[in-house]
Amino acid sequence: MFNTRIKIKDLLQQESFGNQVTVMGWVRTFRNDQFVALNDGSTNTNLQVVLGLGEFSDDELKRITTSAAIKVTGVVVESQGRGQKIEIKATSLEILGDSDPEKYPLQPKKHSMEFLRENAHLRFRTNTFGSVFRVRHSLAFAVHKFFHELGFLYLHTPIITASDAEGAGELFKVTTLPLNNATQNSDGSINFKEDFFGRATNLTVSGQLEGELAATALGEIYTFGPTFRAENSNTARHLAEFWMIEPEMAFCDLEDNMNVAEKFIKYIIKYVLENNREDLDFLAQRLAEEEKLLPQEKRSELGLIEKLEFVFGNNFERITYTEAIEILKECNHNKKKKFQYPITGFGMDLQSEHERYLVEKHFKKPVIIYNYPKEIKAFYMRQNEDGKTVAAMDILAPGIGEIVGGSQREERLEKLETRMKEMNIPTEELWWYLDTRKFGTVPHAGFGLGFERMVQFVTGMSNIRDVIAFPRTPKNAEF
Ligand code: 4AD
Ligand code: MG
Repeated sequence: MFNTRIKIKDLLQQESFGNQVTVMGWVRTFRNDQFVALNDGSTNTNLQVVLGLGEFSDDELKRITTSAAIKVTGVVVESQGRGQKIEIKATSLEILGDSDPEKYPLQPKKHSMEFLRENAHLRFRTNTFGSVFRVRHSLAFAVHKFFHELGFLYLHTPIITASDAEGAGELFKVTTLPLNNATQNSDGSINFKEDFFGRATNLTVSGQLEGELAATALGEIYTFGPTFRAENSNTARHLAEFWMIEPEMAFCDLEDNMNVAEKFIKYIIKYVLENNREDLDFLAQRLAEEEKLLPQEKRSELGLIEKLEFVFGNNFERITYTEAIEILKECNHNKKKKFQYPITGFGMDLQSEHERYLVEKHFKKPVIIYNYPKEIKAFYMRQNEDGKTVAAMDILAPGIGEIVGGSQREERLEKLETRMKEMNIPTEELWWYLDTRKFGTVPHAGFGLGFERMVQFVTGMSNIRDVIAFPRTPKNAEF
């Protein structure tokens, strides 16, 4: 048996001395031919391993370089040095994997985020990414815990679909047809009958439509999986491949939907506050240092931990789209023409500068905007009595903007079909979706939380590329 190790996180929590343990990890630093700072990914806190002078050969000592993998057996002793309570006095040492210091790309110094993105295969070995990925894991776990405790079923919706759930046309095609020699129909279009599935298919943009089928039988479900959008947005908040959590609830209206979404966000924030304090403290410190470089007005008023505690402890503001437009129209920022897109009035889509103004300057807390104009929202949203708006809701978070998008769904067959025709959504192809409205239709609602945007919010990382292991963005699919 090889795996006789104790994880450093568990070891550091022990109170007793004198016992023998085995640890394995990667060398962060090695000083004075004696002191190894060892990291195994379980925590950012390195374990100090002490190699007694003269007890190990020069040959071995030379191989203890940054990022070399080692196995150490030794005795747990009280640390003489400052900064740690315990250390290991090594009795045996094995080099598991060398790391040539001339070639290893990461130095024990601060690297730029851009440099680390180019070395995304190694960036897990930095403190920042260690913390980010442990927090990401905890958030994912808390997502499942939240819905499981409420009795929702985890539904796995397909990755390959033949529909465009959002009707926005931002699809990645899936095909096995030869790119240069696909058979064509008489009108010159590609003959997808010859394709693998016998029809045109794409990567899913959302599991919602399939989620609705399950919710209108099982009651309450959620999805948590990858979604794909071929939108050419090169921003700090967009990925071409991102993970989304989409709960769908039968017997639920827009207000119920907002309540669940707010409770959900608070729950997962509380979970990481309680379970990832060490990583959050590190990330808070990192963010504070990063913000020191910004001009005063761009810095956050609250530190990372205070911000999370604030979100957890306060109600989200809820306003209609119409109220939001009023506030924006009347604000000094608009009157002084400081928005790139001036507020024209009802009907315009809110840009991220508007969302951020509402959240960061006006309300200074998360905001739920609901009842949007039907023209700027998807076909499946429930039409309100006013004939102008739909029962949509977006949740906006400080520093991020839109983090959740959701709605009550149009459960009335006739209204849904009419709206689909108006918006050129093919009703024949979505026959199965319309069937739910024919057989026991019910009021139902749901939303989608962009997982990476949530991880960004919780970790304070300013670029979405730094909260997913291997980001997929325009012109970038390395690793
Ligand atoms: O607002 P969206 O497009 O809503 C839907 O897909 C609905 N079907 C959800 C539902 O009601 N079941 O996307 C939902 C969320 C956004 O609020 C945002 O957080 C995230 O998904 N998102 C993205 N995250 C990263 N990169 C992108 N390109 C994203 N597009 C949307
Ligand atoms: Mg949206």
